[in-house]
Amino acid sequence: MPTLIKNANEVITLKGNGQGPRTKEAMKEIGIIENGSVLVNQDRIVAIGTLEELQKEYPELIADSEVIDATGKVVMPGLVDCHTHLVHGGTRENEFNMRLNGSTYMEIMNAGGGIHSTTRSTRQASFEELYEKTYNHLNEFLKYGITTVEAKSGYGLDWENEKKQLEVAKKLQETHAVDIVSTFMGAHAVPAEYKGREDEFVEIVINEMLPKVAEEQLAEFNDVFCEKGVFTPEQSRRILEAGKQYGLTPKIHADEIEPYEGAEMAAEVGAISAEHLLVASDEGIQRMAEAGTIAVLLPGTAFFLRAPFARGRLMVDEGVPVAISTDFNPGSSPTISLPFIMNLACMNMGLTLEEVLTATTMNAACAINRGDQIGSLEEGKKADILVLNVANYKQLQYYYGMNHTHLVMKNGRVVVK
Ligand code: NIG
Ligand code: FE
Repeated sequence: MPTLIKNANEVITLKGNGQGPRTKEAMKEIGIIENGSVLVNQDRIVAIGTLEELQKEYPELIADSEVIDATGKVVMPGLVDCHTHLVHGGTRENEFNMRLNGSTYMEIMNAGGGIHSTTRSTRQASFEELYEKTYNHLNEFLKYGITTVEAKSGYGLDWENEKKQLEVAKKLQETHAVDIVSTFMGAHAVPAEYKGREDEFVEIVINEMLPKVAEEQLAEFNDVFCEKGVFTPEQSRRILEAGKQYGLTPKIHADEIEPYEGAEMAAEVGAISAEHLLVASDEGIQRMAEAGTIAVLLPGTAFFLRAPFARGRLMVDEGVPVAISTDFNPGSSPTISLPFIMNLACMNMGLTLEEVLTATTMNAACAINRGDQIGSLEEGKKADILVLNVANYKQLQYYYGMNHTHLVMKNGRVVVK
């Protein structure tokens, strides 16, 4: 049955010029239609405009439509969370308390906690346990208006458990309303059993895991944690280049804790995105702008680790396409609230209200190669649509720390109300 979402105060279309990532001024063009309506049929958007325009063009479809009244509200595309460590076992609130008492993130990790702790919990968890836990997390994502989530593996760190994580994501893609896009991140950490034999583990990722990921079609992207004490730029480059041979698009956790020329490398290997970038160099930012590498910024991580925020303002001004995401994971960013993360990007990175909307819709969609299907309200795109309980888009961040979701439509179906 067709659906008409009618008479919103503002429909924020995010429609721009083409389906690629937006840079500079184009990040501010969010396409506002006042008194707007959206017509949906099956899982697609049919048309957007004023009610009179739609009635003139689609009288029959509208006569058959179920009507959602959006009077006084804002309508926009579903949010895209393009960087999460979605599938994981356990929680790490004790480490949070240790950090509040003075320990650092890397100290905890080097002492066997951090990613190692979640690796133990994830290895111990059964497929069903991980599936249940993640299913519940996805329900929460939907309530915050997130309709597509990228999911990285990287808490298995051996084939059996990496595969388990990726297969949980694959099954959820079939069963849950939220769309999941998978990234293989076997090089998230060197597992404890390979301590001192790091290069051996790199060989296993390259020669054993990557071919299987490709053969079993378990992921589209290949990510690596390029960080002092984790994987060197040389090791990272080898892993990303090897992934390319198997058709996996490179992504990279770059310059998160110490500057390591990760941004530069991302541009060089043709990564679709470099992520984190808290301490990326001027040179790295320039190279990313030239190469069109998307910067996926994760202000929740800087907030939660009390680290410096990435230089988002500078990146936008220099012409880097910027996306914003939660980094949802049990260590450095245990939150699902992308709207709160958007607020951090405004307050601590100097992004504007319009820029954070682009960064969590179109640019985030492009960071997972979905710019042609989601991220904006346009004829023919997927009907992933939010109706929000605010009078205009500026109130989304003005009333901060609140969930403004009134209704979520996913693939043309109302899933939260
Ligand atoms: O994106 N930097 C590495 N990975 C995650 C954190 C993972 C964890 O602490 O469990 C991140 O911050
Ligand atoms: Fe991450």
